[in-house]
Amino acid sequence: MTAHTRPLAIVTGASSGIGYELARCCAAQGFDVLIAADQPSIHAAAQDFRALGAAVEAIEADLATRDGVDKLYAATHGRPVEALLANAGHGLGHGFLDQDFDDVQHIIDTNITGTLYLIQKVGRDMRASGRGRILITGSVAGFMPGSFQAVYSGTKAFINSFSFALRNELQDTGVTVTCLMPGATETEFFARADMLDTKVGQEEKDDPAEVAKTGFEAMMQGEGDVVTGWKNKLQTTIANVTPAETLAERHRTIAEPGSGKP
Ligand SMILES: NC(=O)c1ccc[n+]([C@@H]2O[C@H](COP(=O)([O-])OP(=O)(O)OC[C@H]3O[C@@H](n4cnc5c(N)ncnc54)[C@H](OP(=O)(O)O)[C@@H]3O)[C@@H](O)[C@H]2O)c1
Repeated sequence: MTAHTRPLAIVTGASSGIGYELARCCAAQGFDVLIAADQPSIHAAAQDFRALGAAVEAIEADLATRDGVDKLYAATHGRPVEALLANAGHGLGHGFLDQDFDDVQHIIDTNITGTLYLIQKVGRDMRASGRGRILITGSVAGFMPGSFQAVYSGTKAFINSFSFALRNELQDTGVTVTCLMPGATETEFFARADMLDTKVGQEEKDDPAEVAKTGFEAMMQGEGDVVTGWKNKLQTTIANVTPAETLAERHRTIAEPGSGKP
């Protein structure tokens, strides 16, 4: 990254799904991109974004760890970050008592701890320079207790809430915070969460390119939040006036192992 005529965006979880499409939006809309994911496939994604005219640096790092986040942050080499798209995250299906605690810890460390650590580092620089855009990928899952996906949904409730609070704290700083709250989207997510035998894992899902475009535009407009798709908007509106016990029971019907077609 030597030519600095374009602004720089960091996109985490850019090797697949929503993050890949977010990085593509950034590259197509004039950003250079610093992208990160845990697996070597991030380098193939980098090639795709270079083809769009962006300078691209790809970092392989486990963003559940402080070392991983430090490695990503160090790769900015002090260059100002115009946009941070904190998107890396993963899910975990099955009942809580049946989950491996290492997996539970890794979700919390990725979706919450690593995400916050990165946002704090980059956010401090943005506040000091009086400008910047932060997009955080939350989820409609954060609106309801997610039976058989309980830890994941809890992390997204945290992220949704955190995003609104941070946005308020930064309201006079020139830094905007936007929360992208997708519904079920066609990505690697459900396979990785071992939820392909569930109703939600099998149903028709939103297009990640559409979801990312909506999120990218909301970030550029400096909006506070965006729930993608009318079905998801309806779902969150209903969730806001429905007892938590009812929501948890409803989530069981779509996320319990075996709830999908055999
Ligand atoms: N798909 C949905 O239905 C849905 C709905 C609402 C919100 N979301 C959220 O959208 C975001 C993107 O997920 P997706 O649906 O696009 O799934 P995905 O296709 O599985 O993409 C997840 C991305 O995050 C990266 N990642 C996960 N854990 C990481 C870690 N510890 N360190 C570094 N990179 C990590 C993955 O890279 P590696 O392969 O290298 O690990 C991948 O690039 C997540 O925050 C997810 O919670 C998804």
